[in-house]
Amino acid sequence: MAIPEVKASAATAPATKPAERKPDPCVVIIFGASGDLTKRKLLPALYHLEQAGLLPKEISVVGVARRPLETTFAPDMKEGILAGGGVDQADPALQPFMDKVSYHAMNFDDDGGYTSLKAMLADIDAKAGTKGNRLFYLATAPEYFADIINALGKHGMNKPEANSASWVRTIIEKPFGHDLESARVLNDDVNKVFAEDQIFRIDHYLGKETVQNILVFRFANGIFENVWNRNYIDHVEITAAEAIGIEGRGPFYETAGALRDVMQNHVMELLSFVAMEPPVSFEASAVRAEKVKVWRSIQPIHPADTVRGQYGPGIVDGKQVVGYRQEDRVHPQSQTETYAALRLEIKNWRWAGVPFYLRAGKRLAKRVTEITIMFKQPPLSIFKDEQGKDAEEIRNNIISMRIQPDEGITLRFGAKLPGPSMSISPVNMNFSYAETFGASSANGYERLLLDAMLGDATLFAHRDGVEATWALMTPLLEYWAKNPIRDLPNYAAGTWGPPTSDAMLKADGRKWRKL
Ligand code: BG6
Repeated sequence: MAIPEVKASAATAPATKPAERKPDPCVVIIFGASGDLTKRKLLPALYHLEQAGLLPKEISVVGVARRPLETTFAPDMKEGILAGGGVDQADPALQPFMDKVSYHAMNFDDDGGYTSLKAMLADIDAKAGTKGNRLFYLATAPEYFADIINALGKHGMNKPEANSASWVRTIIEKPFGHDLESARVLNDDVNKVFAEDQIFRIDHYLGKETVQNILVFRFANGIFENVWNRNYIDHVEITAAEAIGIEGRGPFYETAGALRDVMQNHVMELLSFVAMEPPVSFEASAVRAEKVKVWRSIQPIHPADTVRGQYGPGIVDGKQVVGYRQEDRVHPQSQTETYAALRLEIKNWRWAGVPFYLRAGKRLAKRVTEITIMFKQPPLSIFKDEQGKDAEEIRNNIISMRIQPDEGITLRFGAKLPGPSMSISPVNMNFSYAETFGASSANGYERLLLDAMLGDATLFAHRDGVEATWALMTPLLEYWAKNPIRDLPNYAAGTWGPPTSDAMLKADGRKWRKL
């Protein structure tokens, strides 16, 4: 039976546009621009900012990659912008924006390439008025990050011209390292060339409205924070489920797996927002300090509190799909996990004793990222005549934060069923972003690109944070590498992951919420 629903609506008419924060004129230089990210996310996001009037007039975008794409790059990016949503082919601002997009072909280890890039940027400054401000975006495969950073330093492109008011910043894509040691080495390399306040380690989950809203929900409302602790909360679940497989990224995914690809970064970021103490302000240093405290308070995760899985063939969206080991450029006996689940505990005064269950995986039953806060049951049930089979659904209040899709928040509580008995039915109070504020074509990169242009690092990872999350994951990765499991694949594509994941919660007398 579907659970009855009460809808939330905006109390006052929603503002159509956030307060304007316009960055300085600048050039955005994207290394690895021939990759998917630039076309699917970065250019559409930049154009959404342009549409919202949030970009400076003097902006220029330079794609950098190895292939000779000089004539095809801008038209290709235009296609990406149109596919990114919210843009009409006939939009009069589109072609003028495309005229600001150019391309520079070079090998990342070629000194001559940096010399000519530097000259090109100086030329753009002179013609477009970009004032020497540079935002480098490293969207290459991670093995090139250190080389590019070093070369930028060697060619004096890491700092502004002497005696100028300009700035130079660099955004670095994930994955930032593949374990604690490599993250430390990369941090050292980057910090030799750029000061920490020039570095923007990106996690695109922090660009999502629903993720930022976790902080607003908790810290801009008086009623939730009082119950946001071990006295009232039974446990917390975080699910990052994808229906897609590895989408042709075999060689990358073989070296990554679900723990590195999603758990160490996206899921850990969600966890920190759910669990952190209120920061003293919404400034980068204050927010980052509270996040890092959460990660450092997590007890080392015991291998017995982990589950790994790999998908076999199955049916997704009504179509037969191959198993992970049959994917292109994947080893036929691969041990790489496409599913990971963890149980962990945060040892601090707010959370001691509250289990956090996290799961992330590919080729699961559907795409859903959701945080469930399951509250404790009332101490005593005076209503004996509860309806329905699932007592947990009735007795435990739930706040579920729907990060994506169907973005919103639901509060579940019990209500009296109309009729002559005191029967209880769970009901949902539902807030939907799209219904309340209208649908949006934003992909999350808008806010982060804008913040980096403005020099605001609040929604970016700091060195300490990256190392703290790798410190949690690395022992597990090492244990898993030394202890292969025999029964892979252990879940069929299109299901909710391996049975051992359900068993982990069952051992605690709990179960994953049905999403
Ligand atoms: C990326 C991972 O960081 O996040 C991908 O590398 C994953 O494997 C993606 O598919 C998920 O992002 P989103 O925004 O679609 O949830």
